[in-house]
Amino acid sequence: MPSSKSPISYLLPFLLSLTRSAAAPTLSESPPGDAIPVSPYLNSFSIEFENFPLLNLTFMTGNATHPNQFSINLLSNLAKRTGVMPMIRVGGSTQDDAQFIPSQEEPVIVIGVTNGTDRAGVTIGPSFFSSYGTFPATTYIPGITLAVNGSEGIETRQAETAYISQALGNSLEIIEIGNEPDLFQHWNRRPSTWNVTDYVEEWLNASKVIESTLTKNDPDLAKNIAFFAPSFAGTDVGDSLNSFAPLAAFAHGLDSGNNIKVLSGHNYMGSATGAGVTLQSTLMNHTSIVKSISSHVTLAKELQKYCSAPYVMGETNSLSGGGAAGLTNVFGAALWVVDYTLWQATQNIQRVHFHNSATSPYAAWSPSTIPPTTNAPYYGNLMVAATVGLLPDRSISYLDLGNGDERTSAYTIYSSSKLISVVILNMIEYLSTSSTARPKSTFSVNIPTSVKGALVERLTAPGADALSGVTFGGFSYDYSRAEGKPVLVDAAAALEEVSAKNGVLSVTLQDSEGVILHLF
Ligand SMILES: *[C@@H]1O[C@H](CO)[C@@H](O)[C@H](O)[C@H]1NC(C)=O
Ligand SMILES: *[C@@H]1O[C@H](CO)[C@@H](O)[C@H](O)[C@H]1NC(C)=O
Ligand SMILES: *[C@@H]1O[C@H](CO)[C@@H](O)[C@H](O)[C@H]1NC(C)=O
Ligand SMILES: *[C@@H]1O[C@H](CO)[C@@H](O)[C@H](O)[C@H]1NC(C)=O
Ligand SMILES: *[C@@H]1O[C@H](CO)[C@@H](O)[C@H](O)[C@H]1NC(C)=O
Ligand SMILES: *[C@@H]1O[C@H](CO)[C@@H](O)[C@H](O)[C@H]1NC(C)=O
Ligand SMILES: *[C@@H]1O[C@H](CO)[C@@H](O)[C@H](O)[C@H]1NC(C)=O
Repeated sequence: MPSSKSPISYLLPFLLSLTRSAAAPTLSESPPGDAIPVSPYLNSFSIEFENFPLLNLTFMTGNATHPNQFSINLLSNLAKRTGVMPMIRVGGSTQDDAQFIPSQEEPVIVIGVTNGTDRAGVTIGPSFFSSYGTFPATTYIPGITLAVNGSEGIETRQAETAYISQALGNSLEIIEIGNEPDLFQHWNRRPSTWNVTDYVEEWLNASKVIESTLTKNDPDLAKNIAFFAPSFAGTDVGDSLNSFAPLAAFAHGLDSGNNIKVLSGHNYMGSATGAGVTLQSTLMNHTSIVKSISSHVTLAKELQKYCSAPYVMGETNSLSGGGAAGLTNVFGAALWVVDYTLWQATQNIQRVHFHNSATSPYAAWSPSTIPPTTNAPYYGNLMVAATVGLLPDRSISYLDLGNGDERTSAYTIYSSSKLISVVILNMIEYLSTSSTARPKSTFSVNIPTSVKGALVERLTAPGADALSGVTFGGFSYDYSRAEGKPVLVDAAAALEEVSAKNGVLSVTLQDSEGVILHLF
């Protein structure tokens, strides 16, 4: 024993792990009253409109016959866990920049900023829509322009509707008209006098153009026409029903056609350039997540006065403006993805569409970089899919670990009223550059006597700052190994199990790690 250390220093790591585990919470065998049903589509995606064809690698390489197999591999990994391909919304700011040019051969041309608008224009041709056929068995929410006005606007909406219905048929889930119209004035897309009444009138007009085009092209599809709205940037429920806010839009008749079937909100945890934004305080922080989602929970309830549709997060990611290197592209963001998505599931937000553009630092994967990369946040999406799983009648509930530490978080998952898994996240930041040993904590739960133990699926990486070396359940999904297909890299991790002892299940997590305990 080296004499420089006092006996107490040998006890220290042990004491630390004791203090963090607190009094073990008791899990009930059947769902608690606040358990919420989970959709198999909980983890879904949103793809920036102008980048959508880029996910078809053939566009980039000029090879017209081969879709982007890497994207398909990554989406299929999620489908293997949930039974369904993630739903894809195609939209974002550039959805409202798009003007259709019938003779254009290229799917998308970015034409730069034009007079009278702060936004870069985008022109699309008929080949844009062929990208909708690329992913197998996938349902889509196509975004249609609202900002482009006048006859170009009407022609674009007609063409978008016609081509989308032709490309998608029954894979057309629901249509979105306009992206964040509450920011149209900010982007100089509308005059300063434009108000919520004008918006509602334009939206209703656009919905009629879409409906009549669809009736001409596919009368059966037209019968079930449904819209995804309002897709505002803001969540203000406002004191005044004349403010430019989602509630006001509904109060002024947005759903007067009774065809809004899903309510859509947008959310980011902060801005990429925001002051004081850090991995630990902004992303790896359960309180910060609850705070960020709370206005949506209020809005979703208030909107029920006007429309009984379910509420989803139609476009979201960690930090707006594409994200920030070192914050949104690192492993800590994967842990954030898990807590952020599961928390929303407990709040009855049925889907979370993670926004991706070609190379932004929050993208789950980058299909068009050379070489393409699976990014750390993707592993969070995968853990969510594994939590959702294949079993029927899933429900989820937040589990208070009782340790008072907002850097930890947990959930219980039930299937057909039976407890089947527990998710535990230790979001205490550990940096791979640290010179000190990585701290660990033991988390214990009191389990029903029927539970004998659990298979452990662990989400881990060298640290919260890691860009690579991420594994889930011992598997890597990196592009460099097998183009995003699973490759076993840690055989012991793939077989990890814990056994129940005297009605208690304990699992040890290093700082910046997460686990799913699949109970048996
Ligand atoms: C297209 O790309 C695929 C994959 O890289 C390749 O196998 C195929 O030969 C290419 N086709 C042509 C016509 O170049
Ligand atoms: C923008 O407007 C200015 C002044 O009216 C005009 O000179 C210029 O050609 C316009 N540019 C474009 C790209 O239309
Ligand atoms: C991919 O894009 C190219 C060019 O736009 C198109 O010709 C091809 O049909 C697309 N592939 C699929 C599977 O959609
Ligand atoms: C039409 O759009 C342009 C640019 O987006 C904007 O400047 C103009 O005010 C709009 N017109 C109306 C009537 O809203
Ligand atoms: C909506 O459509 C009606 C009828 O076509 C038209 O009179 C009105 O100007 C349109 N309103 C807007 C805001 O486009
Ligand atoms: C919007 O402006 C019009 C006049 O341009 C007015 O009639 C209408 O009441 C306004 N709507 C709201 C919600 O203030
Ligand atoms: C977590 O977020 C809350 C709310 O923004 C903040 O008050 C708290 O300081 C944050 N905690 C940490 C550990 O950064």
